[in-house]
Amino acid sequence: MATEDKMKNTGQDYEIDTLTNDRLIKDHEYDGIRELDNDLPPWWKWLFYITIAFGIIYMVRMFVLDSDDLYQEREYQKAMAEAASVVPEKAKNFEIKVLTDESDLAAGKEIFASICKVCHLDDGGGLVGPNMTDDYWIHGNTVEDMFNVVTNGVIEKGMIPYKDQLSPTQRLQVVSYIIEKIHGTTPAAPKAPQGEQMEWPY
Ligand code: HEC
Repeated sequence: MATEDKMKNTGQDYEIDTLTNDRLIKDHEYDGIRELDNDLPPWWKWLFYITIAFGIIYMVRMFVLDSDDLYQEREYQKAMAEAASVVPEKAKNFEIKVLTDESDLAAGKEIFASICKVCHLDDGGGLVGPNMTDDYWIHGNTVEDMFNVVTNGVIEKGMIPYKDQLSPTQRLQVVSYIIEKIHGTTPAAPKAPQGEQMEWPY
């Protein structure tokens, strides 16, 4: 056998090719083709050990500790339960209608005085924003119209969207305050009418 002549038997489980000094796997030959017996690179071996460790930890967490976040279905149920608990009852089937409870109107007044009055004035007479005491409205005078303006704003005209800053209930409170307490009053310095005259109550 030609190959055997140039092999140096080391007594180990590999042989050395005397010509090239390559390490070859012993007794592993096919049609004269031999396979090198190189060590695997360290990074590869470590990757392999890490996957073994990961697998063991994963199995322990799954079958022994029965950890919730390894089960998609349970994780989904948990997330849904959490979401259901943070959405207030009102927002689930939120109805856009004028709130007349004094507590809601008081909350609306507070929001108006802290955010809206810089542009609409405390008494709603109007400054940068239109007068809200008169019967003239640019975007409509229904509770839905106003809720929509407060939610989405009219950015190009300088009215800010409040959908991120105020909850739906808060937006409804402040709109109700405008309808119930500001509209129809006489402000100190009313701004000239803007928009169209509208039937009131709508
Ligand atoms: C930075 C100034 C500014 C602030 C703050 C502001 N608005 Fe306005 N608002 C405007 C302007 C300007 C308009 C007119 C938009 C237009 O011409 O289309 C307007 C329009 C409106 C309208 C529609 C009026 C109409 O005639 O149709 C409503 C309702 C309204 N604002 C409510 C509010 C509420 C409620 C707040 C507070 C949460 C608020 N605004 C805060 C500037 C402001």
